[in-house]
Amino acid sequence: MKVLIVFTHPNPNSFNHALLESIAAGLEESGHEVRIKDLYQENFNPILSANDLTVLHTGKIPKNIAKEQEQLLWADGLVFIYPLWWFDRPAMLKGWFDIVLTNGLAFEYSSEGVKGLLKHKKALVIITAGGSEDYFKDNDALQLIHRPVTDGTLSFCGIKDVSHQIYYDISNLSDNERTAILEKTKETGINF
Ligand SMILES: Cc1cc2nc3c(=O)[nH]c(=O)nc-3n(C[C@H](O)[C@H](O)[C@H](O)COP(=O)(O)O)c2cc1C
Repeated sequence: MKVLIVFTHPNPNSFNHALLESIAAGLEESGHEVRIKDLYQENFNPILSANDLTVLHTGKIPKNIAKEQEQLLWADGLVFIYPLWWFDRPAMLKGWFDIVLTNGLAFEYSSEGVKGLLKHKKALVIITAGGSEDYFKDNDALQLIHRPVTDGTLSFCGIKDVSHQIYYDISNLSDNERTAILEKTKETGINF
């Protein structure tokens, strides 16, 4: 499988980056072809500009957007790794979705309603959170963690085969717990 990992964390020494290394190692061990899109490292511009939006409305695709879409269309499998920021994905990743998932490429409207066009892809979403699992449970917020990406974005675009791994309380994890998570993540890559 061709797998695109979209990684969103500004710090190359973060736990998120360790998760990236683990999943990539697992995927490669299984023979998948892996490409990594590190949004901060490539200094990705997440702003869907007024000009780009105007061009999109004429049915044309601006060059910068076409480049991103080629990378998306290359992949059969998508892996997203990011920290939960304000109950959602970081703005950098949100901007990538704004730019890459355009009407006509990722979805279309028909007389039967909206149709997702990326239905042959599968996805894995790996999220880290500062809050504890109990905090999210007590605030009836567990679903909020993955719904914006899984339902609001991927499923809308036809990607129904989505799995997630959510890791809580990141700053309070022991070294052993971190190691266990990284091993599990490599295993997930092997079995993707
Ligand atoms: C801007 C910002 C917003 C955050 N919002 C949340 C949040 O809504 N819920 C939460 O549990 N943690 C939140 N956090 C904590 C991060 O999720 C946590 O620091 C991260 O998952 C730890 O991973 P890392 O060690 O790889 O950075 C936030 C952190 C930042 C910097």
